[in-house]
Amino acid sequence: MQQDIQQLLNKVLTSIQEVGSTDKLYDLKVQVLGKSGELTSILKGLRELTPAQKSEIGKIVNDAKAKLEQAFDARQIELKHQETTALLKSQAVDISIDKHLRQIGNFHPLSITRNRIVNWFVGLGFVVHESPEIDTEYYNFQALNVLDDHPARDMQDTFFVGDGVLLRSHTSNGQIRAMESIKPPLKILSPGTVYRADNIDATHSPMFHQIEGLVVDKGLTMGDLKGILSLFAKFVFGEKTEIRLRPSYFPFTEPSVEVDASCNCKSGCKICRGTGWIEILGAGMVNQKVLSNCGINPSRFSGFAFGMGLERINNIVYGITDIRHLYENDLRFLRQFVV
Ligand code: PHE
Repeated sequence: MQQDIQQLLNKVLTSIQEVGSTDKLYDLKVQVLGKSGELTSILKGLRELTPAQKSEIGKIVNDAKAKLEQAFDARQIELKHQETTALLKSQAVDISIDKHLRQIGNFHPLSITRNRIVNWFVGLGFVVHESPEIDTEYYNFQALNVLDDHPARDMQDTFFVGDGVLLRSHTSNGQIRAMESIKPPLKILSPGTVYRADNIDATHSPMFHQIEGLVVDKGLTMGDLKGILSLFAKFVFGEKTEIRLRPSYFPFTEPSVEVDASCNCKSGCKICRGTGWIEILGAGMVNQKVLSNCGINPSRFSGFAFGMGLERINNIVYGITDIRHLYENDLRFLRQFVV
């Protein structure tokens, strides 16, 4: 009997290792340890033995039973692990996304340049003060001392959208709106879109962008204007850049200047047309009439203003020779500008 038990034990221990699934392991367990299992029937056979034999064999059977249970449990864990791993593998979902969908966009070159410029001026204490793109003749012209029959109105062919209402032809309407709403001293920057009835070609577009600056304080002079613009030119085009001021005319500034930046080319290039200088913006001391129009006393305060074309600055910085590239949304072009 002892031998039978040992044999059964060895046979079952081997089978446990050979069994390949938890289901088969369960069947095997029932077959050996179940109610009418092989070991159970040996236990039942003990009845016919003497008490002494009973206790001897009983101990052996119980030992064998304990060993088998341990082996079944260990194998159960092993098989369960294998089955779970296989199941996870077979049901795995590929959560990686196609590479093409993962492309992220970048800023439009005009946004890059605008942000650079705005941030620089903000660093000098300027406050961004946006003004409406659709405004009245009063804010776009009259208040800026551009009177009804003034020839300056021809300089900026204007889109009218209603009686006395227009698409602003420059961001200078922002000067008036700022002076009306903020008490001097003030230092504002007004970036935005402007419209002129121009045909589109390499250097013109009926829609483009400007950045307007206005400072009103006590005792400001052309020296302050020149100082800021000279630092600005160095910031935007490079340390070696110089500026020069040429006398000009705008009804809203007196005196008025056109500001040129020195070109980086030594020998004369397409952008500066061989002159070594590139026109970058218009500026001047705020006309006293404009201060008065906004309720600011010109004998107490003076101001300077400047207005630059964003496309122009941007195209000089990047060496872009045709403004139309900026509006065509050709990704081959736009992908070249990464901040
Ligand atoms: N508004 C002028 C233009 O569009 C530029 C300018 C702004 C000039 C401020 C002087 C002062 O041409």
